[in-house]
Amino acid sequence: MNAEELEARYRQQSHRSRELFERGRYYTAGAAKGAYYYPPYPLTMDRGEGCYLWDVDGHRYIDCGNHHTAQILGHADPAVAAAVQAQLQKGVALGAATGIESEIARAMCRRVDSLERIRFVNSGTEATLHAIRLARGFSQKGKIAKFEGGYHGNHDAVEVSVAPPLDQAGPADAPYAVPTAGGISPSAASEALILPFDDEEAVDKLVAAHADELACVIFDPKCGVLETRPDFARAVREITRRHDVLLIFDEIVAFRSAWGGLQAVYGIDPDLTCFGKVVGGGFPVGAFGGRADIMDLFDNSQGPTGFFQSGTFSAHPVAMAAGLATLEQMTAKNLDRLNGLGTRLKEGLDALFAEQSIPARTVCTGSVFSLYFSEGPVASYRALAATDKAPLQPLFFSLLEQGYFLGQPGLGMCSLSLAMDESHIDGLVAAVHKGLAA
Ligand SMILES: Cc1ncc(COP(=O)(O)O)c(C=O)c1O
Repeated sequence: MNAEELEARYRQQSHRSRELFERGRYYTAGAAKGAYYYPPYPLTMDRGEGCYLWDVDGHRYIDCGNHHTAQILGHADPAVAAAVQAQLQKGVALGAATGIESEIARAMCRRVDSLERIRFVNSGTEATLHAIRLARGFSQKGKIAKFEGGYHGNHDAVEVSVAPPLDQAGPADAPYAVPTAGGISPSAASEALILPFDDEEAVDKLVAAHADELACVIFDPKCGVLETRPDFARAVREITRRHDVLLIFDEIVAFRSAWGGLQAVYGIDPDLTCFGKVVGGGFPVGAFGGRADIMDLFDNSQGPTGFFQSGTFSAHPVAMAAGLATLEQMTAKNLDRLNGLGTRLKEGLDALFAEQSIPARTVCTGSVFSLYFSEGPVASYRALAATDKAPLQPLFFSLLEQGYFLGQPGLGMCSLSLAMDESHIDGLVAAVHKGLAA
């Protein structure tokens, strides 16, 4: 079956999704958010339970997207639902602390060794925004460094060189700063130093050359997206420390990898860390924290410090309740089981690709995974940009038809949930087999 036939069958199966998309696009300028669009039009989901989603045309899918990796427990988890209900009954938001924010703050600081203090906000975007501002204030330096291909949310400072066209990206070992979207302040690019992923020698050179003006390096290990060497992550820590530049570790996706986050697995201790996604149990959340001497700039209880962070909905009690109920289930044992499913998936898919001589590979860190059509390793943005994208959308449609939803046709940053077991993983491997044959 060719790509056109698969798309035609997708259209036949999704009349109601198309109707709802057409109705909404007029009011929401296309899809309601960028990540909800893919051609010819995205599916509209009706409900979720456990590892399943049902679309508005009545089809059931095993969810391998899990709301951009946020739903680590799957959908409608009973303990999260109960915690949310209990919090709702106390009033949604009371204009004052309720105590639950200190509970989740304590739970996070107990899990992650480098966390001495933490603040909660509404999204990963806000977390990286505040962490960067704090790093600038603490260091009294203005530039930031980020990695080419790194995504840290929707604000000017970090929306530089997220997915630069290769003909504008400059030399691989000293990439240019390329604004990612229209409307970004021209100063964002001039204030950003772009570092190459997977090249510690180049990172060392660039950080050394700019150390006097660099407030921080923000680093997302691209968990489940790039084949990241733990040694590279450790080198980034060592380089930033040696040049006296703060390291902000973006664990917004990676935190689901282990009890203490991916930093515990890699054995690194960032100065600040950003969190999000799973920490809100499916509700809008972000968090950032780290060294007490940096975070205590927010502590105005002993007199004004000149620093301030707040927000009407920051540390929202319902999100905090959902997050706490989620963290309680993210035990080391449960995460080991989940990561075991990730390993089973990677081994199953890689064996299939080898058997069929298909130049494809699975990148998997813990329970986050991506599928690429590539002969060689996908360890940097440039390698990712060079992968063959043509088979992705037909495979996505074929998987949908077989009852597997991978979130979006790019098949990147997919994720597993604790509601799954081995049968779902083996089923997905078999479905990929069938999809590739088609
Ligand atoms: C690594 C990383 N950092 C930051 C963000 C931004 O988080 P949010 O979408 O909650 O603003 C994302 C979102 O996908 C992410 O993957």
